Amino acid sequence: MEPTSLACFLVEKDATGKIHRGVTERPLAELPPGEVLVRVHYSSLNYKDALAAQAHPGVVRKLPHVPGIDAAGVVSESTSPQFHKDQEVVITGYELGAAQWGGWAEYVRVPAGWVVPLPAGLSLKESMILGTAGFTAAQCVKAIQTNGVTPADGEIVVTGATGGVGCLAVKLLAKLGYTVVAVTGKPEQHGQLQAWGASRVIGREEVVKDHSKPLLAGRWAGAVDTVGGDTLTTLIRETRNYGVVAACGLVGGTELPLTVHPFILRGVTLAGIGSGALPLALRLGIWERLAGAWRLDGLESLATTIGLGRLEANIQRILAGQVVGRTVLALAD
Ligand SMILES: NC(=O)c1ccc[n+]([C@@H]2O[C@H](COP(=O)([O-])OP(=O)(O)OC[C@H]3O[C@@H](n4cnc5c(N)ncnc54)[C@H](OP(=O)(O)O)[C@@H]3O)[C@@H](O)[C@H]2O)c1
Repeated sequence: MEPTSLACFLVEKDATGKIHRGVTERPLAELPPGEVLVRVHYSSLNYKDALAAQAHPGVVRKLPHVPGIDAAGVVSESTSPQFHKDQEVVITGYELGAAQWGGWAEYVRVPAGWVVPLPAGLSLKESMILGTAGFTAAQCVKAIQTNGVTPADGEIVVTGATGGVGCLAVKLLAKLGYTVVAVTGKPEQHGQLQAWGASRVIGREEVVKDHSKPLLAGRWAGAVDTVGGDTLTTLIRETRNYGVVAACGLVGGTELPLTVHPFILRGVTLAGIGSGALPLALRLGIWERLAGAWRLDGLESLATTIGLGRLEANIQRILAGQVVGRTVLALAD
C-alpha cells in the first residue's frame, strides 16, 4: 500500500508575502492530477530549480511549490496503458518543477506524455546525473553536428563549463572528437576541465568584447553557450564561416545586442535550444544517444549525491555560480 504522505522540499509564502522553504511532509493527495504516479528515487539540481526555490515568477506559477525539473524512479500507479507498475522511468522538463510540483519529493504525479521509459544502458541514478543538463548538452551537440560542423573545422567553445550543462557538453564534444575550449570563472578548476576533455581553458573575460564591431576575428567553429547576454553576442561575432552557436542559457543575461552581419556574411547558424517541451520522438532520440553511442564514461565521478536536508546549501551554491559538475538528489533508500 502507498503511504498517504510524502517528504518534499516546499517553497511557500506566508501571510506577509515572505517566502519560506524547507523540507516538510505533505499529504500525497496534494499532488496534482495525472495518469502516472512515480516513486522518485533520484532528482537533480539545475539552475532553473534554484530560481524555483526563490519562487521566481518566470518559473513558478503558484505557491506552495515543489521544485525539481528532473525525476527518475519507479511507477507506483498508472492509469495509462503505456506504463505499468514497477516500470523504471525518467521525467525531464515539460512543466515538472515549474507549473507543477516537481522531483524534489518522494513522489510525482504527471501526465503520461511527460514520461520516458528509462533508456536501456542507464541506471536511474545515471539518468539523473545527466538529467535536464545532459539532455540539453546533447541537444546542443546534435545541433552543431547536424548543421555540418565536424571536428576538422576547428575549436568548439563551451561557456559556463564547470556547470551542469557545461561540463556535460565538454565531455560529449570531447568524446565525439571535437577540440573543446572551456570558458570558466573558476581558475582553480582548469585541471578538472582538462580532465573532462577540454583541450584548453580560458577565463570568462576572454569572451566578452566591445559591442561596437558587428564582426570580430573568427575564432570558433562552434559554440555551446549557457551564459547569454554579452557572452553570446561576442561568441556569435567571433564564429567563423558556417559555424554553429547553440544557445541554451541565460546565467549572464538575456539581452542580445547584434547586427545581422554574422548571419548574412559568415553564414553563422544560431541554434536555439529549448529542452522543456521537445516533442517525444526527438526526446526519445536524445535519450537513445545518451544511453548508447554518446554514453559517457565516468558519469558517477561528475556527481555529488545529497539528501533533502542538503538542498538549501546547494541552492545557495547555484545562485552564487559555484557549481562544479552535477548534483544528484537521492530520495529512496
Ligand atoms: N534551454 C534549455 O532547455 C535549458 C536547459 C538546461 C539549462 N538551461 C540553462 O543553462 C544555463 C546553465 O544551467 P545549469 O543547470 O547548467 O547551471 P549551473 O549548473 O548552475 O551552472 C552554471 C554555470 O554558469 C557559470 N556562471 C554562473 N554565473 C555566471 C555569470 N554571471 N556569468 C558567466 N558565467 C556564469 C558558472 O560556470 P563557470 O564558473 O565555469 O563559468 C556556473 O557553474 C542556465 O541559464 C539554465 O537556465 C537551459
